[in-house]
Amino acid sequence: MPDSFLQYCRATLSGDEAEEVVKVIESGWLTTGPNVAGFEKEFKEYIGCEHTLALNSCTGGLHCALSALGVGAGDEVITSPFTFVASGHVIVWTGAKPVLVDVDPNTFNIDPEKVEKAITPKTKAILPIHFAGLSCDMDALLDIGKRHNIPVIEDAAHAAGSEYKGKKVGSFGDVAVFSFYPTKNMTTGEGGMVTTNDPELADRIRKFAFFGIDKEVWERYGKKQGWQYDIILPGFKYNMSDVLATIGRVQLKQLDRFNLKRSEIADFYKKSLSGLEDCISLPPETADTVHNWHLFPIRLDKTEKTREGLIEYLTEKQIGSSVHFIPLHLFSYYQKAWGYKPGDFPVVEKIFKNIVSIPLYPGLTDGDQERIVSAIYGFFDRKPPL
Ligand SMILES: Cc1ncc(COP(=O)(O)O)c(C=O)c1O
Repeated sequence: MPDSFLQYCRATLSGDEAEEVVKVIESGWLTTGPNVAGFEKEFKEYIGCEHTLALNSCTGGLHCALSALGVGAGDEVITSPFTFVASGHVIVWTGAKPVLVDVDPNTFNIDPEKVEKAITPKTKAILPIHFAGLSCDMDALLDIGKRHNIPVIEDAAHAAGSEYKGKKVGSFGDVAVFSFYPTKNMTTGEGGMVTTNDPELADRIRKFAFFGIDKEVWERYGKKQGWQYDIILPGFKYNMSDVLATIGRVQLKQLDRFNLKRSEIADFYKKSLSGLEDCISLPPETADTVHNWHLFPIRLDKTEKTREGLIEYLTEKQIGSSVHFIPLHLFSYYQKAWGYKPGDFPVVEKIFKNIVSIPLYPGLTDGDQERIVSAIYGFFDRKPPL
């Protein structure tokens, strides 16, 4: 019986990050500079989009994108309740109302039909989330956006390397924002990246990300030495440092390898857990997408046994697990400030009631994966097929 605790999540490092970070520190240029520019260029090439902007978080990128699109007080932004609070809070920060609409039970992503029904003259943006790394139905969402002249801001926090109809998420919509938090498929410790094909929007987001200054920080302190600048809008401070960008450059080179490993682990789980089909459901997949397997959420939707029971059992077996996500409308803030209440979004509530994410990251050994599967079988008093 193994006694070491198997973490739910662990950042995957290639081994070259530390050496590169030391080089940056020794260069004497720690904040936004040549490494950020290099990381933006390389991410742009990887995604296949026209413009990128590296920031210190995905949250900051979403906030800047909404602000750059002119979203403000009195406006409405449509989003999914099935997300991390960042996606809702950024809307609130602009002064707009987060208009939540329910998800599609087959994907757990925002339901385009319900999005269309929620549009009002006040709607200024649609903010879908590619839950767990499975792309939303982007044709439907972009079509709605086009017909109503409303931009679609993709929360691609989970979706580095995910594809939709043969194209990388972030390469073809209005604007998308990725996260490089340590739990994500690639990391910079903390960080995010905006992608867009719209040069004016890219420029405006860049201004919002750094105080509204009309010049880049390294244009001011670098070789050009120009001390003068103008402030053209009341921007925020979300710039990425060169120290973090250099980690991102190393990680990006490994992203496809990391994602391949994730998909191998997902295949193992799908195969080995299929013997529990009468108790659990496996994560949704769709035919026209490449899933990056950021998360592996299973549902205990065909059994009397509870998600809480499984989490407790796994903890006893020294295995971490997590729940993604507590729907936004079940938080007291969203209820008090925006009038949401339990029962408002029955599809997401049904999914949430019995969902559990099991560990999935490239660092899991074959033994770790077998241990996880055996424990889940054990919870159901069954013998694992291993
Ligand atoms: C769906 C979603 N959106 C946004 C974020 C925020 O990302 P960051 O921590 O990079 O700001 C997260 C983080 O976990 C997330 O899961």
